[in-house]
Amino acid sequence: MSSRTPADRLGDLVEAARHAFRRSYLREPAHTVAAPGRVNLIGEHTDYNEGYVLPAAIDRHVVVAAAPRTDGTVHVTAIDLGESSSFDLQAINVDTAHPWSNYQRGVAWALQGAGHILTGMDMVVTSDVPIGSGLSSSAAIELATAHAFELVSRLEIDGVQRALLCQQAENDFVGMRCGIMDQYVISLGQEHHALLIDCRSLEYRAIPMAQGPALVICDTKKRRGLVDSEYNRRRQECERGAEALGVRALRDVTPETLDARASELEPVTLKRCRHIVTENQRVLDAVAALEAGDLPALGELMNASHVSLRDDYEVTGPELDAMAEAAWGLDGVIGARMTGAGFGGCTVNLVEQEALDTFLARVPEAYRAATGLDPEIYVCRAVRGVHRVK
Ligand code: GLA
Repeated sequence: MSSRTPADRLGDLVEAARHAFRRSYLREPAHTVAAPGRVNLIGEHTDYNEGYVLPAAIDRHVVVAAAPRTDGTVHVTAIDLGESSSFDLQAINVDTAHPWSNYQRGVAWALQGAGHILTGMDMVVTSDVPIGSGLSSSAAIELATAHAFELVSRLEIDGVQRALLCQQAENDFVGMRCGIMDQYVISLGQEHHALLIDCRSLEYRAIPMAQGPALVICDTKKRRGLVDSEYNRRRQECERGAEALGVRALRDVTPETLDARASELEPVTLKRCRHIVTENQRVLDAVAALEAGDLPALGELMNASHVSLRDDYEVTGPELDAMAEAAWGLDGVIGARMTGAGFGGCTVNLVEQEALDTFLARVPEAYRAATGLDPEIYVCRAVRGVHRVK
């Protein structure tokens, strides 16, 4: 863990991006944009069922420095990879040699598809959002790119529209059928708040984070190999459940209705539906607990969410289970659960400040003993969404 403050870390990234921009393009960047990663406190796999989620943007960022070009091309340099890729805004195609650049390409494609007139640009990108850990480094790249296009092309795109266009880039250009949660909270996140997002109406309410406890993210370092195929399979299982129950989405099913109609569903479909239906209720209960300052209740809901993702939705795996169990066993841990799509990636933990040192010593130790893997721990803060850096 680094002793640098969050502001130092973002400042370092901004400096690195501007420096690399000058070196690559021999001129000054016109704009610098920061887009945070995200963690979801509760409400997992509910977004594509038109339900509720409660994510926060976190102080790990993708930073882009950019300046307009007059020839309608986009040049992207990925500092951390030491690679570059270029494309023509009139003919955007997939780059198989530089797959990382398909996020920038997809965003340009989606913005233009929505009728926005884009200016070409030179850009560099760097990041301290860990890649492949389920903290949404790719959504952060999308949002940083979209905002850079807005600035160089002098567009004003509303935050929800921006999130939807970035989701479209990911769904239809990159080819990952994600829901709206990640792009939404990275677009509209607020400092010291989580967002209660209604993924049907696309409205949100900013919920103040609990004062006091630390927000701790534990990276299992297990990379999420199965995630794409299993993610799409879970989506299909949910769609099947909604169809069998005669509703547009599982959002429309209450725990009581599901209990009453359980015998109409295949056993696996029933388990998937039970996770979604109970998880939606847990999100609303978690918001009530946060607003009432009832941290024990919030913690119970987080732990129950993990158990439901483990037993009913079956997206945890031995590493995420070991990490959650390592935390559950400690005094001062309010709650712990897997966060994001699952199959590896991270847990999210709320930890009393007095217990933080013990947590930072014991959890990695217990996790290492259980799995043989070396975890990484990030103590985070909730920050604002994508923005221009002065
Ligand atoms: C990934 C997706 C999100 C959401 C989560 C699970 O992060 O990108 O849309 O479905 O998984 O909650």
